[in-house]
Amino acid sequence: MKQYSFHVIHGPNLNLLGEREPAIYSTLTLEEINNRIREFAMSKNCEVRCFQSNSEGEIIDYIQNNRHCDGIIINAGAYTHTSIAIRDCLASINIPCIEVHLSNIYSRERFRSHSYIAPVCIGQICGFGYYSYIVALQALIHYVENYSK
Ligand code: DQA
Repeated sequence: MKQYSFHVIHGPNLNLLGEREPAIYSTLTLEEINNRIREFAMSKNCEVRCFQSNSEGEIIDYIQNNRHCDGIIINAGAYTHTSIAIRDCLASINIPCIEVHLSNIYSRERFRSHSYIAPVCIGQICGFGYYSYIVALQALIHYVENYSK
């Protein structure tokens, strides 16, 4: 079986996980979450690279530079609710993308219920803490194995 290569992108303020609003996001650090993602990826024989940036432009550059990989998982943080530029970037590339959130964005402030990113993704997973990324990776593997070109 082909060894798939995926990218996990974390947006603004996710570098502060562990100390940032732990009642909402838990006390796991981003490094601990990345380790759990990598561990799961290894068990499925895929390669995952993790990237974090607080800058919209850097996220767009990263997506463009990696647009030939097998799939992307993105937690765009607050850019989810504001960034037409990230949405256009994801719409411009021809690979499957899944949107992820640690928290349930639909049970929080109203402005979090709208995502510019979700309509250009194959799906969205939110509300399961770090496990949202694991579910997303599982779904992405299933998608590329069954539906990708
Ligand atoms: C988040 C939800 C967003 O609304 C928020 O701006 C974040 C984190 C999440 O993972 O739950 O930064 O993307």
